[in-house]
Amino acid sequence: MEIKAIRGFNDILPNEIGKWQFVEETAREVFEGFGFSEIRIPIIERTELFSRGIGEATDIVEKEMYTFTDRSGNSLTLRPEATASMARAYLEHQIYSFDPVAKLYCIGPMFRYERPQKGRYRQFYQIDAEVFGVENPMVDAEVIIMLIHFLKKVGLENLELQINTLGCRDCRPKYREELRKFLATKSFQLCEDCQRRLQTNPLRIFDCKVESCQEAIVDAPKVVDFIDGECQKHFDKVKGYLEMAGLSYILNPRMVRGLDYYTRTAFEVVSYQLGSQNAVTGGGRYDNLFQEIGGLDVPGIGFAIGMERLISLLPKEKEFIQYPHLFLAALGEEAYGEAYRLINQLHLEGIRAELDYEAKSLKSQMRRADKLKVQYVLILGEEELKRGKAVLRNMTDKSQEEILINNLLETLKSKIVFD
Ligand code: HAM
Repeated sequence: MEIKAIRGFNDILPNEIGKWQFVEETAREVFEGFGFSEIRIPIIERTELFSRGIGEATDIVEKEMYTFTDRSGNSLTLRPEATASMARAYLEHQIYSFDPVAKLYCIGPMFRYERPQKGRYRQFYQIDAEVFGVENPMVDAEVIIMLIHFLKKVGLENLELQINTLGCRDCRPKYREELRKFLATKSFQLCEDCQRRLQTNPLRIFDCKVESCQEAIVDAPKVVDFIDGECQKHFDKVKGYLEMAGLSYILNPRMVRGLDYYTRTAFEVVSYQLGSQNAVTGGGRYDNLFQEIGGLDVPGIGFAIGMERLISLLPKEKEFIQYPHLFLAALGEEAYGEAYRLINQLHLEGIRAELDYEAKSLKSQMRRADKLKVQYVLILGEEELKRGKAVLRNMTDKSQEEILINNLLETLKSKIVFD
C-alpha cells in the first residue's frame, strides 16, 4: 500500500516555497529592524512546561497536545506553541543577566491535535515574536505596530486589529466569579465540556464553538468592567500609543484568547477573507507566565502569526517562483562538453542556468527552455564554437545575437534581470 502523509500534516511543494521564503525573509528583515534577534528552540519539551505555562484547563493542554513517553519514561510533548519554550530558554540561559530586556523571534512548526479543516492543521507554522522584561504599555503598542507593519509589507489588506484587556491576577478572580455566577444560571444551555469548564475555567467558555454556548455568553459580564485602576491605566495607554501611531483597532470585549497565561493586553488580527478560521495572528501580554514555569517575575508580551493562513492571503498576482535565468542548448558532443564547462562557471557566479542532460534535438531543448520560462537561451553550435562564439536568444522579444564565449559572463550580467 502506498504510504501517504498523516492527516493534518502538509507538504510544502517547490512551486509554493517561494511564498514561504518571501514571508520568512520579510519577517527577519522587519523584526531585526525593530531590534529583535532570532532564537531556535527545540520541537519537543517536557510536558510540564506547556501544562503549567498554557494552563491545565485549556483546550490545548486538555485535548490537543501530542504527548508521549520516551524510552526513559519522561513525558514529552511536541510544542503546541513557542512562547513557553522561549520563556524557558530565557530563564535557562539567563539571557536576562546580559540585558533584562530581550526581543526574540522564532519561526517553525507547531503541533496541535485539532480537527483538520481549511486553515487548521495538526502541524502548522508560526512566526513568533516576544519581548521579555518590559511592563511599559509602550512596548505593547510597539509589538502591535511591528506586526501590522509586517503584515502590510507582505501585501495583506483588509485586516482588522482587535484588542481587549484581560486584567491581572488581582482583578481577574472577581471577574471569573461574576462570570461563573452568570453562566451558572444558564448551565442547562452549556455543552458537556462547558459544564465542566464552568467549574474549572469559565473564561474558556468564550472559546467554545457550540451554538448554545455561544448564545449563553451573549450577555455575559465583560472583563473590561471588572479591571482595577492599574490595568485600566495600562489599557488606556496602549490605546493611546496605537492612536498616536495612526493604527485603527476594534475593541472586542469577548476576545479572551485560548491560552491561560494572558494578562492585560490581548489582541488578534483577523481577515474576513479566511472563513471560520479567521485569525491570522494572536497575541498579548503574559506577566505571570515566567512564575508559572518556575522562574523569576518577568513580564512579557508577544504574538504568533499562523503562516499557512497568512500565505493563503498573499496577493494572487505576485510572482513568487524563481525561474532559471539561462538555458544552455548544445548541438553535438563537443558543444555539449563546452556547455558543461560553462554551466559550472555560471552556477558559481550565481546565474541560474539549466541544460538538457539527455542532449536531445535543438527543438526539444528549446521546448524545455520555454517551459522553464528562462530569460535567455545560449545556443552552442559546432560551427560557432570553432570561432569562439555562440548565439544568445532573448526569450522575451525573440531577438538573437552572436556573442563571444570569452565575454559570456559580462554579457549575461549586463542583460539578465536579477530578482
Ligand atoms: P494562538 O492564537 O494559539 O496563539 O496561535 C496563533 C496563530 O497561529 C493563530 O492566530 C493562527 O493563525 C495560527 N494557528 C493556531 N492553531 C492553528 C492550527 N491548528 N492550524 C493552523 N494555524 C493555526 C499562540 O500560539 C500564542 N503562543 C501566541 C502568543 C505569542 N502570545 C504571546 N506571544
